[in-house]
Amino acid sequence: MGRARMTWIGTSWKMNKTLAEARAFADGLVAARGAFDGVRAFVIPAHTAIAAVRERLPSHVPVEIGAQNAHWAPAGAYTGEVSMGMVADAGATLVEIGHSERREHFGETDETVALKVEAAVAAGLTPLLCVGEPAGVRAAGGEIDWVAGQVSRGLSRLAGHDVGRVVIAYEPVWAIGEGGREPLPDEIAPVMGMLPARFAAAAVLYGGSVNRRNAAALLGVPGTDGLFVGRAAWDVAEFLALVRIAARARHAGRPDAR
Ligand code: 13P
Repeated sequence: MGRARMTWIGTSWKMNKTLAEARAFADGLVAARGAFDGVRAFVIPAHTAIAAVRERLPSHVPVEIGAQNAHWAPAGAYTGEVSMGMVADAGATLVEIGHSERREHFGETDETVALKVEAAVAAGLTPLLCVGEPAGVRAAGGEIDWVAGQVSRGLSRLAGHDVGRVVIAYEPVWAIGEGGREPLPDEIAPVMGMLPARFAAAAVLYGGSVNRRNAAALLGVPGTDGLFVGRAAWDVAEFLALVRIAARARHAGRPDAR
């Protein structure tokens, strides 16, 4: 796969939404099916809602579905886990791997991330490899080395030609979630420039405190193929507002101007 020419906008719902809420979001996407021109949109429900969202979205609605996590083993005695094949069977085409909340709360390491990236590719899924430095590393000026190291280790089990199947999401820990701080474009620019220069991934996304006020400026950071959004996209109207911003950014000349 070559470098992206579409602008990506995706959201993870994290541990939110009942089946009814997930279906209502999907219905909102169907109603807005003309809004996705030039935009590669994805939604990442909790595991429980993947199949329901898949069933609700007709194939002509160009929104991909992801999973927030999956195990690296194809099957077996791993109580509470689901495999890459299982999330693919439920309707996912991409899988989030190594989100900072999983690294912090669930013991995800660069080693398990690498196993999962390998398993995702083997299952035909697009790995969405999440990386990002904590505040202390940034305060010490170490973010480039930290993030490059996380990506290198995360990709370490892939054959070189499979790196082009991976989407990288740069999500600095200090920017994510409640209490996260919105970044200035200049603060993320060095990392967003480094990632496509060093890694031949399919796309590089930015995530962490994205909202409809800062989205256009963040999309303008060189090297940025799209945005990965949490809180500001959990309402379907808000998600669609971000999709429209991305479509406008593309029509204004991005992202071919790298
Ligand atoms: P917020 O947009 O809520 O900061 O979350 C970002 C994120 O973690 C996306 O996975």
